[in-house]
Amino acid sequence: MLPKHVAIIMDGNGRWAKKRLLPRGAGHRAGLKRMIALADHAFERGIVCLTLFALSTENLSRPKEELDGLYSLFRDYFPAQSERLKEKGVTLRVIGDIDLLPEDIRAIIRAGEERTAGGERGTLALALGYGARQEILSAVNRAVREGKELTEEEFSALLYTKDFPPLDLLIRTGKEMRLSNFLLYQAAYAELYFSEKMFPDFSDGDLDEALEAYEKRERRFGKL
Ligand code: FPP
Repeated sequence: MLPKHVAIIMDGNGRWAKKRLLPRGAGHRAGLKRMIALADHAFERGIVCLTLFALSTENLSRPKEELDGLYSLFRDYFPAQSERLKEKGVTLRVIGDIDLLPEDIRAIIRAGEERTAGGERGTLALALGYGARQEILSAVNRAVREGKELTEEEFSALLYTKDFPPLDLLIRTGKEMRLSNFLLYQAAYAELYFSEKMFPDFSDGDLDEALEAYEKRERRFGKL
């Protein structure tokens, strides 16, 4: 069966650029173009929820020049892309602490989310200023403040992903084999898939290969 919810850690933009003697920003631009085409392909394949790790809380301490470059890419592409997603019936969501982002970016995000709300084809979630430990801690702190013990369902409802289907497949590009503070709670029973390709080189065919590998796995969720 095809996974319903796929997440991708889009790693390797910097190394992709370095290999070509280009500035890191050129890697992010290539990554962004790949991300847009890959998302189209994923929805055409029938995935209903795609969560993409674009900027972690840790990434926010990168040099100002690199962050400014990412923010300007965002300003250049996000409004038109959200319009395109609306036409396709895809709901756009941003997960993470958007208060960590510049004010104008927050406004663009809110407008994009409003524009695409209610799209029934699927959800494209972009993780920006996202950290899984922070997400879990803020859910725990909320429960503590309310002074109550939670069930798994109640806890899940306090996470950014509360209305997403369970995470089935988590892909990481760029050769590293770690989760880097991404969807730590949600990944409990996700299948993991690591690609050696740098993200700008991760093609539609590479996603198809990951989906094929997923379909061959036997998911037992801890049972026999
Ligand atoms: C990781 O590569 C990638 C990022 C930190 C940014 C991901 C962003 C995009 C794919 C496109 C831009 C998206 C938006 C929303 C503007 P890296 O820089 O860590 O690569 P490296 O590990 O090779 O250095």
